[in-house]
Amino acid sequence: MTTIPENLETMAYGPAPESTSAARDWLAKGPFGLFIGGAFTAAGAPLETRDPARDEVLAQVTMAGEADVDAAVQAARAAQPAWEGDPQRRARVLYALARQIQKRERLFAVLEALDNGKPIRETRDIDVPLVARHFTHHAGWAALLADEFPDTRAHGVCGQIIPWNFPLLMLSWKIAPALAAGNTVVLKPAEDTPLTALLFAEICAEAGVPPGVVNIVTGDGDTGAALVAHPGIDKIAFTGSTEVGQVIRRATAGTGKALTLELGGKSPFIVMGDADLDAAVEGVVDAVWFNQGEVCCAGTRILVAESVADRFRTLLKARMASLRVGNPLDKSTDIGAIVNPRQLARIRDLVAQGVAAGAVAHEGTAPEGCFCSPILLDEVSPASPCVSEEIFGPVVTLQTFRTPPEAVDLANATRYGLAASIWSENLTVAMDLAAQVKAGVVWINATNLFDANAPFGGMRASGFGREGAREGMAAYLRKGTPVAGQTPPAIDPRPATGTPDGLDRTQKLYIGGAQKRADGGTSWSVMAGDTRLGHAPFGNRKDIRNAVEAAQKAGGWTKMSGHQRAQVLYFLAETLDHQRSALAAQVDQAEIDASIARTLYYAAWADKLSGAVHNTQSAHVTLAMREAFGVIGLVCGEEAPLLGALSLILPAIAMGNRVVVVPSQTNPLAALELGPLLGASDVPSGVVNIVSGPVVDLAQVLAAHDDVAAMAISQPAIADRVERESAGNLKPVWHAPAVDGQGRDWLEAMVQIKTIWVPYGA
Ligand code: NAI
Repeated sequence: MTTIPENLETMAYGPAPESTSAARDWLAKGPFGLFIGGAFTAAGAPLETRDPARDEVLAQVTMAGEADVDAAVQAARAAQPAWEGDPQRRARVLYALARQIQKRERLFAVLEALDNGKPIRETRDIDVPLVARHFTHHAGWAALLADEFPDTRAHGVCGQIIPWNFPLLMLSWKIAPALAAGNTVVLKPAEDTPLTALLFAEICAEAGVPPGVVNIVTGDGDTGAALVAHPGIDKIAFTGSTEVGQVIRRATAGTGKALTLELGGKSPFIVMGDADLDAAVEGVVDAVWFNQGEVCCAGTRILVAESVADRFRTLLKARMASLRVGNPLDKSTDIGAIVNPRQLARIRDLVAQGVAAGAVAHEGTAPEGCFCSPILLDEVSPASPCVSEEIFGPVVTLQTFRTPPEAVDLANATRYGLAASIWSENLTVAMDLAAQVKAGVVWINATNLFDANAPFGGMRASGFGREGAREGMAAYLRKGTPVAGQTPPAIDPRPATGTPDGLDRTQKLYIGGAQKRADGGTSWSVMAGDTRLGHAPFGNRKDIRNAVEAAQKAGGWTKMSGHQRAQVLYFLAETLDHQRSALAAQVDQAEIDASIARTLYYAAWADKLSGAVHNTQSAHVTLAMREAFGVIGLVCGEEAPLLGALSLILPAIAMGNRVVVVPSQTNPLAALELGPLLGASDVPSGVVNIVSGPVVDLAQVLAAHDDVAAMAISQPAIADRVERESAGNLKPVWHAPAVDGQGRDWLEAMVQIKTIWVPYGA
């Protein structure tokens, strides 16, 4: 026992444990069944859930099998039409859920801390309030849907799979928007942390959620896989590891199921030379020691300006020494238990690998058991696994840089793109860096801020789709129905020279602003019935690679203003009008007219698709910027060869992307004819590249290419192959009803949201 003078000397906190008695009473209701069709089933095959801090069993839940998943999907399907038909009821129910959560906030907070090991201070002050906020916010969307999202429908039944790091918060991020949009859901919590989802199921009945609208199936990865595979699911929303995200992308390929993936990260935490270092050190605490570092967007890579690095290290180590690791139920604990011993072993292993690769480790202290002390890995080499791998523990690396461009290079030297924190007292510098980092969320002089009205989600290996705000609502709505199509027939290449009708001109590919012969030197006859329209170059893998490289180099287009891009597109419309004769051999005048009209339409939009400023709870301007993806692969349909190609090309380039186009296989000549016309209209070299050939093969090469950031295809029959190949770098694949598809939706598909939190009014 310390004396009062001693306490005043150290200013240390005494223990302040939260009572667990209400949670223990609730746990006594176990073993728990599944929540299907508005009621709990009898408990089935047992799955143990444990308190990692005390290493004791908390409860037995049920390991759901395929038949259980099927029952849950059936219940959701049966409930869906009535639920979608009554938006006012949805709004009331979502609001009632928020109220019920608030009434039980203490029980939720304790149960979450017990099941996951995270500190009660965080579950009480962060997780649970954000959950209630999420339901309230989305109650509003249910009421506003008809006004704000006209002509849209719910997907239907959503399968939702969530991880263990924010069990209840992730549940709310999934369920609230899905329900607001009129979907019904089958949600699978993580095997380590099913309890708050079961408590949530219990309150669904009290809040008036109709039976079948929310179904909770507990289980492991096999249960998740059964949910993904179920034919009655219309959309999958997943948060978890990048590896499982890739498995799910492959499993859903070609099924027509909509998909959003929120995956791992390795986010940079950039400290500029003029940063407020004390604030930045506090920022590290929030970035990587919040939730034991088990946070997908944790700022786990500190990049600090060399000029202030020594002072920053000194301050950081001093702060580390005062972090308290231990009992999650103690209100003065900063870092609780790691979720399970496997995760702890994984953290330890990655730290050991980092040390073996030359990192110098500074560690705080932690009690025995499933706990990990805060760890700073200094002097890490960029190639070290602790710099490239998501550790998902309280471990941060430190690297230094000399110049802002070097900071950007280091920040982007990762396969991920989830979040970034930037610390500088100079807002010009900070915003300039924000524009350059590859991340879905950027916090300026802050970190790990979340709000129901701020879009959250990543790019690259961090997945695609956004959760939260208007952008998150859009992910739970659809327009129209997917169309079926036929695979284009095989075509035979043959040498371009020595053709029987040597008078035919063989068209050329259009790559990097120049007409190029196909790498293989072969071509094929393009026929309209018995009439030979001409010869098209038979492009191959190498041509696609060259085209992607040319597109990569055309980054200047992305940096141009919308106004400048609009000028170029207006010029293109003029050129098309003047060069009708060049196109007339391939397409009729009506298609040329429609193509010119479409070009004018997208020229008009080029400087108008603005981002948004969202109202969030903290003192920030929260910007939702629309950014080009970079290089997009476009696969045209067989309908209207010129208009079809332009319908994909125009919205993509209007938004600043560069594209590699695989034109219609039946008649690629019209699109190939476009090449020189683009050049004549001041479309810079490399912005549009056109490679004709066997559509199925070329589309797959594009989909597998790591430098292609997204795909849009108008060939439904090849969706399975394209989507499967796209899993490598997790690029989104859009299905474009090209000829009928003119509209704002297409422009929105061609950009990704970057959410930037800028301090304002604090
Ligand atoms: P995980 O990705 O395996 O688990 C996430 C969820 O997916 C769980 O509900 C799990 O049951 C389910 N799941 C697993 N395999 C599945 C499959 N084939 N089909 C459908 N659902 C499946 O993550 P895990 O193993 O718990 O953690 C491993 C690593 O993943 C962590 O160390 C961390 O690096 C990363 N991770 C990232 C998260 C994030 O939010 N970005 C969350 C959790 C883990």
